[in-house]
Amino acid sequence: MEVDEKVKERLRSEKAYDLIMSAEEAAAMIKDGMTLGVSGFTASGYPKAVPHALAERGKKGEKFKVNVYSGASLGPEIDTEMTEAGIMGMRMPYMTDSTFRAAVNKGECDYIDMHLSHSTQYINYGALPKVEIAIVEALALNEDGSIVPTTSVGNTPAIVRQADKVIVELNTLQPMGLEGMHDCIVLPNPPHRKPIDITKPNDRIGVPYIECGWDKICGIVITDIQDGLRPLGSVSEDSQKIADHIIDFLDGEVRAGRLDDTLLPIQSGVGSVANAVLYGLLESEFHDLTCYTEVVQDSMLELIKAGKVTCASTTAITPSPEMKAKFDEECDLYKGKLIFRPEDISNNPGIIRRLGVISMNTALECDIYGNVNSTHVNGSAMMNGIGGSGDFARNAAISIFSTVSVAKGGAISSIVPFCSHIDHTEHDVQVIVTEQGYADLRGLTPKQRAVRIIENCAHPDYKDMLKDYFERACAASKLQTPHLLDEALSWHIRAMKTGSMKVEK
Ligand code: COA
Repeated sequence: MEVDEKVKERLRSEKAYDLIMSAEEAAAMIKDGMTLGVSGFTASGYPKAVPHALAERGKKGEKFKVNVYSGASLGPEIDTEMTEAGIMGMRMPYMTDSTFRAAVNKGECDYIDMHLSHSTQYINYGALPKVEIAIVEALALNEDGSIVPTTSVGNTPAIVRQADKVIVELNTLQPMGLEGMHDCIVLPNPPHRKPIDITKPNDRIGVPYIECGWDKICGIVITDIQDGLRPLGSVSEDSQKIADHIIDFLDGEVRAGRLDDTLLPIQSGVGSVANAVLYGLLESEFHDLTCYTEVVQDSMLELIKAGKVTCASTTAITPSPEMKAKFDEECDLYKGKLIFRPEDISNNPGIIRRLGVISMNTALECDIYGNVNSTHVNGSAMMNGIGGSGDFARNAAISIFSTVSVAKGGAISSIVPFCSHIDHTEHDVQVIVTEQGYADLRGLTPKQRAVRIIENCAHPDYKDMLKDYFERACAASKLQTPHLLDEALSWHIRAMKTGSMKVEK
């Protein structure tokens, strides 16, 4: 087969040439009931052409369903299109897609929400239906059939190892400068594990490709489709206030001598608050920062470029489209400073605890004792999933959760008597931050925590109501964590009935 020079640079064995096929031909290999494993973590480095072709089969009326495992959320070709086509069966381990979310909450699709570091082991331990076909975006295929990933590693090494067959989407749009930034490994299952030799965020323990052989690769689709990246929203006033409080808190830790001005490796979630915090670090006195996280967005790339961050360990980058265009041009700038790892390493509890990460994640709601709900509205409706927040929160040196103090235009208080679902218990949450202020909960008893959270974090509209609940709960019992159980969830029930947690006067 005639193969152009640009493709030859990336297909490093002639064995690959006979495997080149269209996305439709590749999709035709996928049958009803199969379990697919796909590359990708956020809308980065996921296969696009084959899932689109698969969804088209569904849209044309063919009746079938497939399970989909990935690293985390994915772009629209999978989570939106496959759901719309009615072909999504079980999906794991994380999502952010509104179409898929609606289908889950209508009971039309199955979803397993799990700690991201666990998701790799669930695959490796064989605890889930086995991956039959993997669909993997690649930068290049090496002579021995091993795969050079693109902008994410996620669960791809484990997925490829378990898969019977692998379809490769070779994306010629991804810059060759990415090569060498990956550090891939599949950990052996217990009892054969050894200590993981990472003592600094930039230590390398693996190889810059995903092990695979020609015996597994059953099709290669050449594509040049851009990831479904989203533009960055502007930083809201509340996000900026939250970011300022977090920087204030970190300044206080330095002044108290608990941190020096290089801080500790930072993990931050995605979104407006995370971006505002990281842009805040750009302006700060902190220097020679490092990062041990699961996803890197624009602000972290800027910090690396500005020399504020010396290295960032991640499993994916998820830049805005504008930043991705710059990244593609300036890829070499990040060599040796950006390292892409599988997510059981980027989110590894042991390493997070060893490095002493400062974790910053977002809550839907927090209760007065410091429990956090990140995943379920009113205890039942799935939002996105726990993602990596639990991997980091439980093991971090300092675990920070932020939320705006009210949602839905003030109708909902994000500080409540009792969370309607708990992802991060009071034991895993050390600092709560809202636009109102921050509550450092370290060393406080539950009752002391309640006083501080209500005082520092609650919105003025809800402060008296929270105080009233807490005081009456304390009057009713001297127990460690006083609650009025018949009232504890009454705020949520009121909101479901009336649209607001406020009491009508
Ligand atoms: N009750 C009901 N709805 C609430 C709410 C509450 N207490 N708090 C927020 N919401 C609603 C918002 O109104 C918004 O609704 P809309 O989409 O209809 O406008 C939606 O929930 C999202 O809220 P927003 O304030 O925009 O949150 P966010 O984008 O900062 O996301 C999480 C917050 C918790 C959903 C998100 O951080 C998440 O999925 N976290 C878990 C995964 C994670 O932390 N990963 C680790 C790092 S990447």
